[in-house]
Amino acid sequence: MTDSHPEIDKIRARFHEAMAVVATPADLKAVRDRFLGRTKGELNFALKQISFQPPAARPAFGAAANALKHEIDQTLELRELELLAQAPVAGSVDITLPGRIPPVGRRHPLTHVRERVEDIFAAMGCQIIEGPEIEDDWHNFEALNMPPEHPARDMQDTLYLEHPVAASAPAGRAGTLLRTHTSGMQIRYMETHPPPVRIIAPGRVYRRDNFDATHTPMFTQVEGLFVDEGISLADLKGTLTAFAEAFFGAGIKTRFRPSFFPYTEPSAELDVECQGCHGRGCGLCKQTGWLEILGCGMVHPALFEAVGYNADKYTGFAFGMGIERLAILLYRVDDIRMFFENDLRFLEQLAP
Ligand code: DAH
Repeated sequence: MTDSHPEIDKIRARFHEAMAVVATPADLKAVRDRFLGRTKGELNFALKQISFQPPAARPAFGAAANALKHEIDQTLELRELELLAQAPVAGSVDITLPGRIPPVGRRHPLTHVRERVEDIFAAMGCQIIEGPEIEDDWHNFEALNMPPEHPARDMQDTLYLEHPVAASAPAGRAGTLLRTHTSGMQIRYMETHPPPVRIIAPGRVYRRDNFDATHTPMFTQVEGLFVDEGISLADLKGTLTAFAEAFFGAGIKTRFRPSFFPYTEPSAELDVECQGCHGRGCGLCKQTGWLEILGCGMVHPALFEAVGYNADKYTGFAFGMGIERLAILLYRVDDIRMFFENDLRFLEQLAP
C-alpha cells in the first residue's frame, strides 16, 4: 500500500509550498495552524471527509492522511530546530560585537605619590605614624619653638576652631586649630617615645589660603624625624639626597639652600633640578632651573627640652615635604587644583 491519495497529495503539495516561504517562528506557527489546526486545519478537515469516501477507499485514505500528518509533524519540527539555531538566543554572547572595557579603579595620583614616599622611607627603617588633623597650639606652634608672639606664626595662616576639642593639650596650652603642618607630629611622637627616633608622618594640613593654581586650603605633607646619638648634618644630607634619587631617579641633581624654620638650626631647603627643563629654565621653575621639594634642618634643642629629651646627648634632623608639590613635579601638572577636582579625564591620564 502506497499511503497515497489524490486529495491528501493536494494537501501535501500545499503544505510544502507554504513551508518553502517560512522564515520565522511566526511563519512556522501559521503553517502549523493552517494544516494541523484542530478545527479548521486542512488535514483535520480532510480527515473529517473520510465518511464521504467509498468504504473500500477509506483505509487507504486514512493511511495516506496519517502518513501526511507524520510527514508534516517531522517537517515542522526540523524547520523549528533550524530556525532556533539561526536565532540569537536571549542572553547568549554575540562575539561579533566590539568588547566593552570595564572601568578599572585605581589609586588617586596623590595617594600614589604618598605611598611612594612612604615606601622609600620605610625601606630606610622608618615607622609610618599618623596623628590628628585637629591640633592644639602646643603641638602645632609652641613646642616647635614658636611661642605666642613668635613672628614665624605669621608664616602660616591658621584656621582656628571656635570650640576647643583637643583634649591632649597640657592644661593652659589649649587653643584648637586645624594643623597648619605635620611638624607637630615630631612633638607628639617624642612625647610618647624615648629616643632613638626614625619616623615619617604623612597627613593632611590646612591653611587659610585662596584656591589658586599653586595653593589649596587643604593639602598633604609628609613629616620626617630622625633622632639618635651622633646624628649630624651629613646624615641629613645623605638621607634626603638618597630620597630624591629614589623618588626622581638616580642621577637627579640636588642642592641644599640655607633657610629658616624656628624648629631647626641650621635650616635648609632641598631643591631638585627642574624636571620640566632639566635645569635650563622654564615656566615651571620660574626660569631658575631648580624646584624646591622640602624644608629640613637639624632639630632645635628647644624641641628636645619641650619633650624631655636630653639635648646634650641626642641630636637629630627633621624634614617636611608637600605631596601635591611632588606630584606636580612628577606628573608635570601646572595647576594643583586638578588633583582635587576629581575629573576622571585628568586622573586617568596620570594612572601609575
Ligand atoms: N613645616 C614646614 C612647612 O610646613 C616644613 C618643614 C621644614 C618641616 C623644616 C620640618 C623642617 O620638619 O625641619 O613648610
